[in-house]
Amino acid sequence: VVVQADAVPADALSGLAAGMQQCRACPLGAAATQAVPGEGPMQPSLMFVGEQPGEQEDLRGRPFVGPAGQLFDRALQALGVARTAVYVTNAVRHFKYELRGRRRIHKTPSQQEALACSHWLEEEIALVRPRALVALGGTAARSLLGYPVAVLQERGRWLERADGLRVLVTLHPSALLRLPPQEQPQAFEDFVRDLSGALSPSP
Ligand code: URA
Repeated sequence: VVVQADAVPADALSGLAAGMQQCRACPLGAAATQAVPGEGPMQPSLMFVGEQPGEQEDLRGRPFVGPAGQLFDRALQALGVARTAVYVTNAVRHFKYELRGRRRIHKTPSQQEALACSHWLEEEIALVRPRALVALGGTAARSLLGYPVAVLQERGRWLERADGLRVLVTLHPSALLRLPPQEQPQAFEDFVRDLSGALSPSP
């Protein structure tokens, strides 16, 4: 699909969404139910970038609607930010999984797969024109910045892309869900603190 330069952004975004449904630049598209485009307003203050759709997102065609999405929504709520006020998307557009019996178990996308997918993200950024970006986890941080990022060291900090767009890096909500239950409240507080940095003007 060719996105026309003169198309209005919303139309161009639907063109992009249609294009990613056909994408077979890596093997993931053939095994997934559908590609998952981003969603949210144009020119938002923030665009949040996750890793890839999970089971629920793959079935429903929307980003962050499963368990990680619920945690993300709780964090936004704690910050008093409406989900509809921000743009939410992913670095990789098709669900990567491994079959265990009938269950589809999440597998981290390879760097090659993330690279094959990164043009969708770049085109989305160019059309949506967020004021700043938030990378949820290492896959998103690497796709957005072009180099591997030590998320635990860089969390809560603003980094800058070659095009001048700022990227705040934090953990992926799924990483919080994998912690032992007794560690989750503190981890959630820390996650919310990172995100609160994205809401205040950067230096
Ligand atoms: N995890 C992600 O990174 N993205 C989603 O959309 C859902 C879970």
